Amino acid sequence: MTDHLIGLLLGAEEDWPQAFEATLRMVGPIHHGGEVHRLTSERLTIEPFRLTDPVRTPLVIDRLAYWYYHPREWLKKAALVNGTYLLNSPFTFQSMEKHSAYCAMVRLGLKVPETTLVPYKNPVDNVRWAYTAERYNQPFDLDRLAADLGYPLYMKPFDGGGWRGVSRVNDPADLHRAYDESGEMLMHLQATIDYEHFARALSIGPETMVMDFRPDQPMHNRYAVSHDFLSASAGWQAVAISRVVNAFFSWEFNSAEMLVSGDEVYPIDYANACPDVAITSLHYYFPWAITALVRWSTYCLVTGRRPNLDLRTNRYFAIADNPDMSYEDKLAAYLGLADEYFESDRYWEWCGTHLGHLEEQVYEWVGSDAFDRILRETVAATYPPHEHDQFLAHFRGLIQLWLDDNGSRAGRPAS
Ligand SMILES: Nc1ncnc2c1ncn2[C@@H]1O[C@H](COP(=O)(O)OP(=O)(O)OP(=O)(O)O)[C@@H](O)[C@H]1O
Ligand SMILES: [Mg+2]
Repeated sequence: MTDHLIGLLLGAEEDWPQAFEATLRMVGPIHHGGEVHRLTSERLTIEPFRLTDPVRTPLVIDRLAYWYYHPREWLKKAALVNGTYLLNSPFTFQSMEKHSAYCAMVRLGLKVPETTLVPYKNPVDNVRWAYTAERYNQPFDLDRLAADLGYPLYMKPFDGGGWRGVSRVNDPADLHRAYDESGEMLMHLQATIDYEHFARALSIGPETMVMDFRPDQPMHNRYAVSHDFLSASAGWQAVAISRVVNAFFSWEFNSAEMLVSGDEVYPIDYANACPDVAITSLHYYFPWAITALVRWSTYCLVTGRRPNLDLRTNRYFAIADNPDMSYEDKLAAYLGLADEYFESDRYWEWCGTHLGHLEEQVYEWVGSDAFDRILRETVAATYPPHEHDQFLAHFRGLIQLWLDDNGSRAGRPAS
């Protein structure tokens, strides 16, 4: 018997960890490679550690380290010293923020809106600044840069997230106001895309769900339940670009944002490490997300998949530099590399053999009182008392819709 312990590194959330724990109990024992494998999970705690300490959890799902640095540094030690498999590796997420993802996608010939990085508005806090600026900072004409991109445009932090510091800039007065307010944030100016759909793709390993996102709505209403909202071509590109960027950076649990107009797909935000998977945001898509997290973790542990930190970007660049290939050809070739990275075919075949019962059991469970209890507790913890009934009814309706739609099998993501 081989035991595999999955570590959960958590912040304030209770809903998806409980769902994950319940779903993991539906897995196994699994017979693979002449052995019997058993999987369990445990919530990790934060404590002093020696750099040489052993790590008991060969795989860790992290929802904490993007803001809490002690566990982040523990993750790095676990990756380097102990070979722990991480969703996600902090190495590339910490250093490759939104801006780096733009750069990678520009290099691959994807349709990133025209983007300019401008120097800080306020001087950085460093005694050497005055001399350095005097000697090396070139004066620049902000109005010219903006006029070149055209109004309206977006000004937003190079490493943004959560709408912090994002402004839509309609004219020069807006431009100067937004820049003055940016202070010590480093800002991009970005051309506006007139879009019909905002596609948000959540990826877990080789599984990608492309969702119709309404950024202007309150959180509980942002993910619309609508299937086939993109053209066949745009839907394929959305899946392909998401999987390609994730494989490029070795990101295995990430959400990606694209603005879509007709068949044109413009990626705008591709670095959302260990994204929100709360039941109160994902609702209809929540059972899929939890199933995928369990499936991918199980696959990685039982098949002995090794964590990967070598980006080997030249393989992508060789495709990018091929003058005989069209945009679609290149995207298909990148997708081939991404599917190789994620072992996509082997994964689905393996899940068919070893986890064939999982979707049905998850389906039963989502219809049970145990699941409803998680929903009730999450609603009680998330909303003020006078809104409980309204939100409980709202989410129960969406979960029921999922049950109705998936009577025969649980929702499979776009492939
Ligand atoms: N180039 C663009 N063209 C049109 N709209 C844009 C553009 N860039 C950003 N937006 C709008 O601004 C919003 C926030 O932008 P962005 O996603 O880059 O910032 P963020 O801080 O990551 O926000 P979030 O956490 O909501 O993703 C987007 O949801 C979109 O509605
Ligand atoms: Mg964003």
